[in-house]
This record gives sequence, C-alpha cells and structure tokens, in this order.
Amino acid sequence: MTVTIVGAQLGDEGKGGIVDLFGDPADVVVRYQGGDNAGHTVVHDGEEYKLSLVPSGAIRGKIGVLGNGCVVNPRTLFDEIDDLREQGIDPDVRVAERAHVILPYHRVLDGIEEEAKSDDDLEAGTTGRGIGPTYEDKVGRRGVRVGDLLDPDVLRDRLEYVVPHHRAIVEDVYGAEVGEEFDLAAIYEEFVSIGERLAAEDMTVNAGEFLDAKRRNGDQIMLEGAQGTSLDIDHGTYPYVTSSNPTAGGACVGTGLGPTVVGQGEVIGVVKAYLSRVGTGPLPTELQDDAEEEALAEQIREEGGEYGTVTGRPRRVGWLDLPMLRHATRANGFTGLAVNHLDVLATLPELKVGHAYDLDGEELQTMPPTTERWAQCEAKLRSFETWDPVDWNAVADEGYEALPEAAKAYLSYLSDELDTPIYAVGVGPGRDQSIVRVRPFDD
Ligand code: IMP
Ligand code: MG
Repeated sequence: MTVTIVGAQLGDEGKGGIVDLFGDPADVVVRYQGGDNAGHTVVHDGEEYKLSLVPSGAIRGKIGVLGNGCVVNPRTLFDEIDDLREQGIDPDVRVAERAHVILPYHRVLDGIEEEAKSDDDLEAGTTGRGIGPTYEDKVGRRGVRVGDLLDPDVLRDRLEYVVPHHRAIVEDVYGAEVGEEFDLAAIYEEFVSIGERLAAEDMTVNAGEFLDAKRRNGDQIMLEGAQGTSLDIDHGTYPYVTSSNPTAGGACVGTGLGPTVVGQGEVIGVVKAYLSRVGTGPLPTELQDDAEEEALAEQIREEGGEYGTVTGRPRRVGWLDLPMLRHATRANGFTGLAVNHLDVLATLPELKVGHAYDLDGEELQTMPPTTERWAQCEAKLRSFETWDPVDWNAVADEGYEALPEAAKAYLSYLSDELDTPIYAVGVGPGRDQSIVRVRPFDD
C-alpha cells in the first residue's frame, strides 16, 4: 500500500519527522514534487540530519526515490549524498528520468525575477533555489530532464535552444549581464559528467515502472510531500506559492502511480499545532498586531525553533488557522492527521485558534479562492485553556491519555472540526517524543 504524507499548512509542519515515525514498514520513500527548497530535519541515533533533496527515509536504509514531479539540482543531490557517506550512511537514491533538472541559470533567474517583482510587492520570498524557473521551463517545453543528461547529444540540443533563450531574457528584458551560469559550453561539460556519475551509480529509473513493480511485489511505499497545501501552485495562496503541487494529487502525477493506487492508501495531513510562514503573503492569524502578540510570536519562534531550515530566515508565526485546515482536509482527502509541536504551546500564557474568518460581515469556514480576499479576512478567534509543561518523554511513553486535559481538548476540537482522526501527536523533536495512536501501514 501507499501512505502519503502532506503538509496541511505552509510547510515546516514537521513532515520529515512523521515520515520517519510512520516509515518503518516502508521499503521505498518517494518525493513527488519540489526540489532543494525543502528542508527536512531528521534525528537518527541522536544525530541531526538536515536534508533538502534526499528523501528523509533514505537515511534509514530505505530506497529513496525522487519522482518525476521533482526538480533536481544534481549539485545538491551529490553534495548531500557525499555528506551522508562521510557520516557513515550510504543512501540508496534513485532519480526519475522524467524529473526536470535545475541548471545553474535557474537560480540566477529566480533572483532576477524576485528582485523585479519586489517593486510591486509581488515577490514570493522564494528560497532562491531556482525552483520556479525550472518548473517554468518544464511547462514551457524547454526544460532539461534527468534522462537527457544520460545522452550528451540530446543534452546539447536542449541546451542550444534554452541557454540563448534565457540569455536573451536576462540581457534584453532585464538589461542585466549574464555570468558563467549561462555559459553553454561549461554547463554542457559539467552536466555530461553529472550524467556519467548518475549512470555509473545506476541512479536513474523510470519511476512509475519502478514503483509499480515494487508495489506488485508487496513492498510498502511512502510518498513524501514537501512544502504544504497553502503553498500549492493550484490550491495555495497564489502568487505567494511554490511552483508545484504539494497536495495529494501531486503524489499521483509526480510519481506515475495512479490515483486509484494512491487513493487506496492513507493520506496523512501533517499539522503544526500553531502556524508559521517563511515567505511573503498574508496570514490572517499572524501574531504581530501589538507588543503582546509580538512577544508571543517571539516565544513560539524560540521554543519551536522557527527558523528556515534552508534559508535560516526567522519564520512568521500565528495561531492555528482552521479555515486553512478545512481547505487542506478537502483538497487532500486526509484520512488521518499528525499534529506536531504540541509541547511548544505549553509554555504560552494564552492560547487561541482562528476558528473562522470574517469577510465583510460574512462568516467563512474556509479560505476564499483569491489571495486578495484572503488578506481581507479577519480571523474570528477562539480561546483555549492553556496547560503547563509536563515531562513530555513520560507522556510519549504512556500515550495519548497521559496528555494534559486541556491539550486533549485542543486536539479533540481540531479532530472534530476536520472530521479526521488524529494518528499521532508530536511533543518534541525526537522520534520517541511522539504519541502514536494509529500506524497507517499496519492498521
Ligand atoms: P520557492 O519554492 O523557493 O519557489 O519559494 C516559493 C515560496 O514557498 C516561498 O514563500 C518560500 O518561502 C516557500 N517555501 C518553499 N519551500 C518551503 C519549505 O520547505 N518550507 C516552507 N516554505 C517553503
Ligand atoms: Mg521545511
């Protein structure tokens, strides 16, 4: 069967930890979208691993696959693999031949366009990894795919069209100078040798075929989303989004497994017990209105370690946003929830959630489709009883019933509102610091 792990909010919900927690029975862990814009932190044997591209299951000896829906920066990929090897882990990573390649010029284009957009406050606050420009080339039918790296003649043909195309845009549209990132001969040489390494290490696969064969063989497959539902290019807060589909539909198109296969499995929504956002765009429940709110935000940021894994940027912080989560529950068809960072809330002097929105006197239960109207939404807050910090390791050992009553009330409210059972609750960063109620691969 498959278990799909999806971020229910704006990324950084702790998906890596949940993949790790539920992933034991999995033989294969697959990423289906995004690239090295993601940041997954996994704690393994007391050692912390920060990964941006390698699927986090690969550090536990599972086959890690980058599906066709991903954009792959081979420099990052090999750096991460080499670093892991130095740490004594030899990950088995396969890359879809249909996946698109992030080339050196994509990062430059990412920066140029963000800069140009900033005059109109339209920049997404991207991670600068070239994600958007690579997906643009994919959809524009001028991209380079991983399979092209294995055939130098095809690679040359592709580059001979696309490099002058981008040079012209930089020079003629933006009036900027192109650097070495646009040097066709240098790119060709580097990426031919990358293709040679991919071939020598037997890393490329026809992902759909590969995964289907595993599935027919009875292997368990975990599908690992990056970013989150409200960063989805279709279902997110456009244009302040990433350029792929983190939602569960992306798990089909981004791997080559059909919707009936993915739909027979479980789809787990990962929810952080509050909200954070690392890029630009509105945030109705953001804690920023006055000094008191800013102090709360600062406290959550410190307790929760809310700094970008990839960029180090401090994350914006807010209360849990129920309309956002109702939207995510529908768009993904969650069968279960994993709620992370519950321990962080225990330190707070007050606790609220955005239960609904008020938009021009109308009460909304879910997000409006335009970001402009979303920005005008005022969160209708509900207060919850707080609870004191407890020995979270003991609670993790004893199980759900050992949680403070007020924490259970908070979780029940969430589960009832989303009409979805809670499978796990994270009360600390380590794998043991989780309460598991349902294991999706077993039950
Ligand atoms: P991009 O994916 O680098 O193009 O960035 C687009 C938007 O998605 C920006 O607001 C980023 O901050 C956000 N974003 C991308 N990846 C992540 C992630 O892994 N966690 C949180 N936000 C992300
Ligand atoms: Mg992250």
